[in-house]
Amino acid sequence: MPMLTSLRIFCFAFGLVFLPARAHAAAPEQESGKEIYGPCAACHGDLGQGGKRGEYPRLAGQRAAYIEYTLKKFRSRERINIPMFPYTQERELPDEDIKTVAAYLAGIQLSTKIPDFKPTDDALTRLLAMEKVMIIPKLEGDLENGKRLYQEECAYCHGIDGRGKTRFPMLVGQYTNYLQKQINAYIKGERLHDKVADDEDEEDGKSKPKTVKLGVLNRLTEKDIQDILAYITHLQDE
Ligand code: HEC
Ligand code: HEC
Repeated sequence: MPMLTSLRIFCFAFGLVFLPARAHAAAPEQESGKEIYGPCAACHGDLGQGGKRGEYPRLAGQRAAYIEYTLKKFRSRERINIPMFPYTQERELPDEDIKTVAAYLAGIQLSTKIPDFKPTDDALTRLLAMEKVMIIPKLEGDLENGKRLYQEECAYCHGIDGRGKTRFPMLVGQYTNYLQKQINAYIKGERLHDKVADDEDEEDGKSKPKTVKLGVLNRLTEKDIQDILAYITHLQDE
């Protein structure tokens, strides 16, 4: 049981008020976010950089609203994720912890540029700086076609720079393998893609421009998808 949870149960049992955030003077939200993230790091990496070439996706810099929304989908099994399911249970990860950890992860910035080291920088300094660098290998493809398709079909939700917005996930900087696996899952109907957004927009009373047509992933060819993914790997430099 994570320390925070057991502490909370203890406090609850003895009628104490539990104020973890107040305990730290500096950036309290960040400290508790880091603590909640502790058990997650085994798979997603200390800085949320993911691992095993995208078997564990990157979380650093992902949109907070999307992380929150997705963790709740794992919990309710609307999105199946067997390795993570136990970590998302209310007892382990209450709603307020979801909010805190999502904000913490969204705030981690990784660079796509190798820093200019000074000859005097020692090995440890270099190592620590390199841990904050994450470069997705460039994928081959027709970049012109990828750009046109991305900007026409994806940018409305995922942002013109591919960095997402609100609860639409960032795609740039994410492992290509992982993105491809998710696209396959959407096409097979194992995950719901843009339809979710549409239903929620209707509830909000908003409507999207007529040029945005749903079910886009099912209308693309394999080559088109490859081109879009290639374009996304090139967008990371901008
Ligand atoms: C045992 C390994 C493991 C642990 C521990 C784990 N995860 Fe995951 N997580 C995964 C895997 C695997 C996926 C990708 C599932 C897929 O391919 O759909 C994932 C996916 C995610 C995603 C979705 C990313 C996206 O872009 O859609 C989020 C968010 C996430 N994890 C957050 C967390 C948080 C927060 C914790 C800790 C409370 C955590 N994970 C702990 C294995 C793990
Ligand atoms: C109408 C809005 C909309 C459009 C347009 C759209 N998406 Fe998405 N996309 C979403 C939403 C919402 C999600 C998260 C849905 C979920 O819960 O699985 C998502 C998730 C994804 C994911 C999974 C990301 C992750 O971290 O797991 C990929 C990959 C993706 N979209 C690719 C694309 C591509 C490529 C296009 C254009 C061809 C596109 N999307 C167009 C709304 C949209």
